[in-house]
Amino acid sequence: KSNQRGMVGFSEKQEGLVKESWEVMKHDVSNLSLRFFTLILEIAPAAKGMFSFLKDSDEIPQNNPKLKAHAVKVFKMVGTCESAIQLHEKGEVVVADTTLKWLGAIHLQKGVIDPHFEVVKEALLRTVKEAMGEKCSDEMSGAWADAYDHLATAIKNEMKAEA
Ligand code: HEM
Repeated sequence: KSNQRGMVGFSEKQEGLVKESWEVMKHDVSNLSLRFFTLILEIAPAAKGMFSFLKDSDEIPQNNPKLKAHAVKVFKMVGTCESAIQLHEKGEVVVADTTLKWLGAIHLQKGVIDPHFEVVKEALLRTVKEAMGEKCSDEMSGAWADAYDHLATAIKNEMKAEA
């Protein structure tokens, strides 16, 4: 469904739901990001092999800065909706010194494939659900799912263009 801005599948109402919940969760972003990353590895232990710094360890390093940084980045990029909005308005995503082109390149280089994006999506949605508790409606989950999909699709398209 298209809305006023013409962004297919992501309405202003959905943007409001994502941003509103992000405003709550951002105060606990450190813990939530750790939970988010733990869920990724729980759902798909194989994802660990892609993170060079995790390959040889059996446990999830609680304070691994790189690991946490990735979780925070993904969480924030989806939560602020900036990427989805920029993508629509400028045809390009630039977040915290990272361009879409670079995001495509790094994920391609690390061997990230489509099913991994599904795992990360599942983990993110579970994190939001846990964190928001009763306040998490199906509509809110759906809004996060769509915001994530916009970003994941943009990265995947860039990966295909570079491959
Ligand atoms: C790196 C975002 C999905 C694995 C990165 C970086 C960002 C990012 C911002 C850092 C790039 C830089 O150095 O500037 C995202 C977003 C995702 C996503 C927004 C989804 C929408 C995934 C998935 C995987 C993954 C599905 C695989 C499980 C990695 C790895 C790196 C990376 C291995 C390199 C980390 C390192 O070695 O430091 N990602 N990512 N990402 N991402 Fe993702």
